[in-house]
Amino acid sequence: MNFQLTEEHLMIQKMARDFAQQELLPGVIERDEHQKFPAEQVKKMGELGFLGMMVDPKYGGGGMDTISYVIAMEEISKVDASASVVMSVNNSLYNWGVEHYGTEEQKQKYLVPTATGEKIGAFLLSEPEAGSDATSQRTIAEDKGDHYLVNGIKNWITNGNSASYYIVIAQTDVEKGHRGINALIVEKDSVGITVGAKENKMGIRGSDTHSIMFNDVKVPKENRIGEDGFGFKFAMKILAGGRIGIASQALGIASGAYELALAYSKQRKAFGKEIMHHQAIQFKLADMATQLEAARLLCYKSAFDKDNDLDYALSSSMAKLYASDIAQTITNEAVQIHGGYGYVKDFHVERLMRDAKITQIYEGTSEVQRIVISRSILS
Ligand code: CAA
Repeated sequence: MNFQLTEEHLMIQKMARDFAQQELLPGVIERDEHQKFPAEQVKKMGELGFLGMMVDPKYGGGGMDTISYVIAMEEISKVDASASVVMSVNNSLYNWGVEHYGTEEQKQKYLVPTATGEKIGAFLLSEPEAGSDATSQRTIAEDKGDHYLVNGIKNWITNGNSASYYIVIAQTDVEKGHRGINALIVEKDSVGITVGAKENKMGIRGSDTHSIMFNDVKVPKENRIGEDGFGFKFAMKILAGGRIGIASQALGIASGAYELALAYSKQRKAFGKEIMHHQAIQFKLADMATQLEAARLLCYKSAFDKDNDLDYALSSSMAKLYASDIAQTITNEAVQIHGGYGYVKDFHVERLMRDAKITQIYEGTSEVQRIVISRSILS
């Protein structure tokens, strides 16, 4: 067992850190305030290879391991979680699904542009009445022979407006329950698609979250991923990997808040000395550093499982559950250490505290992670 990062990992870490400091930090407060999608920054992320990190180079990706992805997600999420969720959805939910289960034609048409970052993808599973209970799909993909006719509504779609391609999960055969669900690649510009208004969110306000309406949308049969009825298992497989991305995002939000609190404690004086000399602050920092290390190890372990073809559904749920929980604690403590300054926007920690909350909700709530974990350990 080796806990040392390789030269390549350290290089990726530095590249992601520099990018976050130079390109994401300026303007992050304004983008949050005005709910502005980081379009230019996402374009640069594509140019630097952050949007197709793990995709095979023959499809335009970086061919990197999942640990590299965790490292980059942590660094980018320290500064801008609205940008990192774009990266996470594109890499884990969209690219991975098309690369691992798509046909060669689908990969050439729908993966190469998203792996290079020329275009981005989105994953459409959630519905008004199908959140945690993901088998209850109401969106219908009616089999019409050479195409599917899609009708329904999808909710809370990250990259909903900015994506060019959607992976849509929809019910074809109601009688078969979750075994009658399909996954289709749908072009956003297809006739019959309407993108709803951008959600006015508590956190990750720069990211692009929309409802998407489908009204008699014709999708060619060749755009189905996998065999007829594979859609639900496909979604579950994708989400197991997606949870590594969101765990790393939570880790990054937490470590960003910790680094700010640590730096602040070294310069802020109270009762005649820097506050880092007060045990009340030292104990907080010690707890934060310990929790971060544990979350980081869980993320690396799950990435290791994935890279070594081991089952990673359990480890990714554990990583997401723990990292998203400590992200609440650590961002809250970072605000506390900053005192009144933590409560205003200029010091970043209040934004990180708001951003942290979504990591307990999307790609499966903390309760869903506990379902996955308890089923695994009890089976
Ligand atoms: N890999 C492969 N197959 C899997 C699997 C996995 N990891 N997990 C489950 N399955 C299979 C099961 O084997 C079962 O198949 P069979 O019946 O053929 O054996 C089938 O899927 C159904 O599984 P369950 O019986 O476990 O299903 P369930 O109804 O009890 O639900 C659940 C389980 C864990 C709660 C699941 O519904 C779930 O994960 N819900 C949360 C959904 C979610 O994460 N949504 C996030 C939306 S995407 C998002 O947030 C993106 C974004 O914008 C950032």
